[in-house]
Amino acid sequence: MRGVILVGGEGTRLRPLTYARPKQLVPVLNRPLLEHLLRHLASQGVDDLVIAGSASNRAVEHYFGDGAALGVRLRYSYETEPLGSGLAVKQAAAAFRETFVVCNGDIITDLDLMTMVARHRDTGAVLSIALAPVDEPWHYGVAEVDDEERILRFVEKPRPEEARSNLINAGTWIFEPEVLDHVPEGGARDGSLERVTFPALIDQGRRVQGFAWGGYWIDVGSPERYLQANRDLLDEEAAAVAETDVILLAEADAVIDDGAEIGGPVLAGRGVRVRQRARLLGPTVLGEGCEVEDGASVEQSVLWEDVRVGAGAHVHNSILGRGVAIGAGAVIEGAVLADGVRVDEGCILPEGLRAMPGLRLPERGREPHPATASS
Ligand code: GDD
Ligand code: MG
Repeated sequence: MRGVILVGGEGTRLRPLTYARPKQLVPVLNRPLLEHLLRHLASQGVDDLVIAGSASNRAVEHYFGDGAALGVRLRYSYETEPLGSGLAVKQAAAAFRETFVVCNGDIITDLDLMTMVARHRDTGAVLSIALAPVDEPWHYGVAEVDDEERILRFVEKPRPEEARSNLINAGTWIFEPEVLDHVPEGGARDGSLERVTFPALIDQGRRVQGFAWGGYWIDVGSPERYLQANRDLLDEEAAAVAETDVILLAEADAVIDDGAEIGGPVLAGRGVRVRQRARLLGPTVLGEGCEVEDGASVEQSVLWEDVRVGAGAHVHNSILGRGVAIGAGAVIEGAVLADGVRVDEGCILPEGLRAMPGLRLPERGREPHPATASS
């Protein structure tokens, strides 16, 4: 089956992580986010895909190429500026004459797409929308459905008091080609499926079918959800191989010293080095080439490639980009540090800090955060 994946957003909510690489290439369990979606789509028989992005997404093409390594056929459609989801699909799927799948490129899911397609055909819908129940639906597109899950109303990011359902657009749709006739030419806002085309089809009385299922779904759109996705997937991988909650999934050449302590699931990529008395508390992901020195602790965090955590340093609930260097004894809590950030020895970062690529902390000329607090 054919499909389109939308990757042309700017990834602003994942900044500062997305300054150096596009959202689709941020690592989840040490693989690019988009790889999880591509593998899932392939497993569901959707293996002929157009990736719709903007020029700044060339890195995605550079990485995935023609898709052969993943068993899919990939082509690329580029917008000179973001067209909005509808116009992006209209351009990417211009040659499609049959039913096809469209996905947001920042989700991870185990959606049963083949059952969804069968339901789409049975109901004769022009459009089907996968629906997921969430706690704060107003961050998403909210769907109200009848008892056959036909969508009666669709509102993109309503005000909280206007969200009348907890079922949201899970970012996977099945299109009949004629849906594209309902995407007006114009600016990015007119070109939005969620704000214009979906409500218009419903208003015209066309059948827009919901498909709610009880499986896994996450939009990896913010640092919190990015950490959550890593944790969820790692917990699941760990549960698949062992019943204990202490588990290390390590590449063959990762070296974890016998004197290191591990609790909860930990994924260690190629070339990882963990020294004695270091403490890893899962779910934690260590990217390729990471080093955790003597007595350092890394808890519930995701480290990209080549991160170095100095002796006795403490990293908790944080995301550390490629090549981040944490000095000995430093304390990092709830932080998002972009590629190449360096934290001086003994520095206690303010909780929740987000640091731009290449920054040295504490910043010169600003209040230092000495490890030796006066208490
Ligand atoms: N090609 C292209 N052009 N892609 C785009 C454009 C565009 O103009 N705008 C966004 N995208 C891509 C993004 O790269 C991302 O992969 C996907 O479309 C969704 O965009 P987000 O910016 O992440 O949207 P959202 O999360 O706020 O909302 C969307 O997803 C929710 C579920 O994850 C909407 O579809 C909501 O209705 C939905 O609930
Ligand atoms: Mg999103």
